[in-house]
Amino acid sequence: MPGFSTTAIHAGQEPEQVTGAVTIPIFATTTYAQPELGEHVKYDYTRTINPTREAWETSIAALENGKFGFAFSSGMSAIAAALSLLKPGDHVIAGNDMYGGTYRYFSKVLAPVGIEFSYVDMRDVTRVASAITGKTRLIYAETPTNPMMNLVDLGAIGTLARDREILSAVDNTFATPYLQNPLDFGIDITIHSVTKYLGGHSDVLGGAVVTAQSEIAEQIKFYQNSYGAVPSPFDCWLLLRSVKTLALRMRAHCENAHIIAERLARDPAIKNVYYPGLSSHPQYELARHQMKDFGGMVSVETGSLENAKKFTGALTYFTLGESLGGVESLVCHPVTMTHASVPEERRRELGITPGLVRLSVGIEDIGDLLQDIERALATL
Ligand SMILES: Cc1ncc(COP(=O)(O)O)c(C=O)c1O
Repeated sequence: MPGFSTTAIHAGQEPEQVTGAVTIPIFATTTYAQPELGEHVKYDYTRTINPTREAWETSIAALENGKFGFAFSSGMSAIAAALSLLKPGDHVIAGNDMYGGTYRYFSKVLAPVGIEFSYVDMRDVTRVASAITGKTRLIYAETPTNPMMNLVDLGAIGTLARDREILSAVDNTFATPYLQNPLDFGIDITIHSVTKYLGGHSDVLGGAVVTAQSEIAEQIKFYQNSYGAVPSPFDCWLLLRSVKTLALRMRAHCENAHIIAERLARDPAIKNVYYPGLSSHPQYELARHQMKDFGGMVSVETGSLENAKKFTGALTYFTLGESLGGVESLVCHPVTMTHASVPEERRRELGITPGLVRLSVGIEDIGDLLQDIERALATL
């Protein structure tokens, strides 16, 4: 099997057949000339199929060690497509610590139409096992979680789900296929917000679903075409370009984040640093086992809203903003931003406090980022 970067550069990205163009053209067309009435051809309408999207879908499927990839116009529409496999009366076990928008979709859109959810601390697989009921159809996890950087044991969840004949899906946005491939651990479906590291430059909104199973793929393809939440050919082309440098970018994200996490962890003004690459992280060994490196996301407990304001206000290169995974560093305040839709009580239980700040460490020069961090620490 070719290596990760070789796959990222070549899978789905062979030279175009007509002209030999080495980059996939942007097929900016909604429809295609049909040869003859009644003669069905592969390309008929762009919501259903588009060559640029097809190339991107081949690429993401290969990167995730799957067989079938489906591109969506956002991470949320990818999640919605995967959850469409369920019907009213079905029960889902989901992580209690995940992206706020996913929780909002589950609790405010799917629960009212009769899909039941149990939110469980997935760090402990026995809790997942004991939440299974006769109606459980899906186990849904994020790892590492957003924003607490907790890990879920992919192998244990994959085995449990298979043993009990339950579907499993993992949102692999934080880790990216460079750091881990959930399908390799027996997970059925991998989901991405490609808006983050896969796009990598904070300029594309998109999502993806990958599976190795043809029955699941058939249904996802049907939902993709039925809802029509597909990305434009231009966005697919940007993604094809972005993934070619995913490994290089991820190495730089991981290296910078590790240095920053260690610096923050040494500072007496900082109450806690959440980063799976710190040996003090309770799941450090699991991270070493299932991830190639530890990622570019670091969450920091500054102690109070006041401190969070001072800390974020002093940063220059870390721009205050939603989202993550771009080459540029970002800082976010989960309570008022990404996780505002999570009820306050649940946030408190999880440790998403007013003093919590989440850093998406970019690939700028580490000396400059460290200077920025020193300035922010000096305000506390
Ligand atoms: C882990 C995770 N999953 C899914 C999403 C949703 O993706 P999108 O914003 O592309 O719809 C996000 C967005 O922040 C996320 O962080």
